[in-house]
Amino acid sequence: MSVAVIAGMQWGDEGKGKVVDLLAEDADIVARYQGGHNAGHTIYCDGEQYVLHLIPSGIFHKDKICVIGNGVVIDPQALLDEMNQLKKAGIEFESRLLISDRANIILPYHCSSDISRESDGKYQKIGTTGRGIGPSYADKIARLGIRACDLSDENRLRKLVLANYEEKKAIIQKLFDGELQSFDEIFEGLLKTRKVILGLLTDTHTYLRQQIANKKNLLCEGAQGTMLDVDHGTYPFVTSSNSTSGGACTGLGIPPTQIDRVAGVIKAYTTRVGEGPFPTELFDEDGELLRKEGHEFGATTGRPRRCGWFDAVVARYAVHLNGIDSAALTKVDVLDKCKVVKVCTAYEHNGKIYEEMPADLNVLQNCKPVYTEFDGWMESTVGTYKFESLPKNARLYIDGLKKIIGAEFLMISTGPKREQTICKEGLF
Ligand code: IMP
Repeated sequence: MSVAVIAGMQWGDEGKGKVVDLLAEDADIVARYQGGHNAGHTIYCDGEQYVLHLIPSGIFHKDKICVIGNGVVIDPQALLDEMNQLKKAGIEFESRLLISDRANIILPYHCSSDISRESDGKYQKIGTTGRGIGPSYADKIARLGIRACDLSDENRLRKLVLANYEEKKAIIQKLFDGELQSFDEIFEGLLKTRKVILGLLTDTHTYLRQQIANKKNLLCEGAQGTMLDVDHGTYPFVTSSNSTSGGACTGLGIPPTQIDRVAGVIKAYTTRVGEGPFPTELFDEDGELLRKEGHEFGATTGRPRRCGWFDAVVARYAVHLNGIDSAALTKVDVLDKCKVVKVCTAYEHNGKIYEEMPADLNVLQNCKPVYTEFDGWMESTVGTYKFESLPKNARLYIDGLKKIIGAEFLMISTGPKREQTICKEGLF
């Protein structure tokens, strides 16, 4: 019996979808603990490509139960769209998908508020996914949110949504000059989608407690990554939830004493989407090469991702914050054509060396990375599934990363498909 958490170690898009899909093999339950349909997990299964935003990646394994926890914010229409995608692909999931009755709901006014604030020049642009994530978490914290359990009583639901609607309308239209659907449109849309959600509602905390007592293996899946965590990331250029491993406790109702291990997922280089500091960002042909070879375009928004070298300050910070004992290293093959591969080991700012992550954006935005260089391997590693079969320089790079960040690699990914993986160790 074991409870394991998987957390992204950079700014998201580390390849968690593939890793969770593979690790789910040994799990009984996969549970998502935060975020919403801002996340995009790309999975290749039986030759097909799927992009999941809300439903845990474990859904592709026929016998696994998938839980959407109380810490997730759910857009009912987005959930329905994703369920339809699975139905079309012939994947049976209805008896295997449970939704927390305490999860907060995203409504169209959250998206309008997100988009209009982002496009109004007066406010700091975050580069959000425009999915209403921030405004929905803001309502949750302000104790105004609509929870999944509120969907059952239509009269009460109408009152709750109307009270919120009037407030949002005033802000969106008067402050941002933004657009908003009518209340009737929003409420009718919600009435149409709520039935599907009501059919899946579960007291997931109690369910998970019982399953843990029954010695089932539980895999807790985070979305986004450590540097997008609202408390520990590059604030304010972050998402609005705790993507670090601690979020699994609050986002699923699992006590910290029940978590047995935490594994990280980290890419062999770094990317981020949206605004905000990124010390190892490349603006030259190396950056272009990483974007092209890594197909670095957002799975949710299609935006080109910013690309840069591996940042070990970020990686060590993620190891410490999450309590990571081992990590999955992804997209090693993307570096195949690099003559030299660089790793940032510290930042330099005004003559001061930073080996720990500074909170001050002024430092982060203006620091210079201190690099260690590795010779590239200049040959294909795509699909390699044995560590010993990797070119010598690729092995030296991976061993170098292990030492610099102070964590083992339980898995090394050399391509998007399940079989393109060097598996060193299971999780449970
Ligand atoms: P939000 O989560 O849509 O509010 O966006 C806040 C920041 O997090 C923006 O920089 C987004 O690009 C980023 N973000 C949100 N979800 C993801 C993700 O799944 N991968 C990478 N970046 C993300």
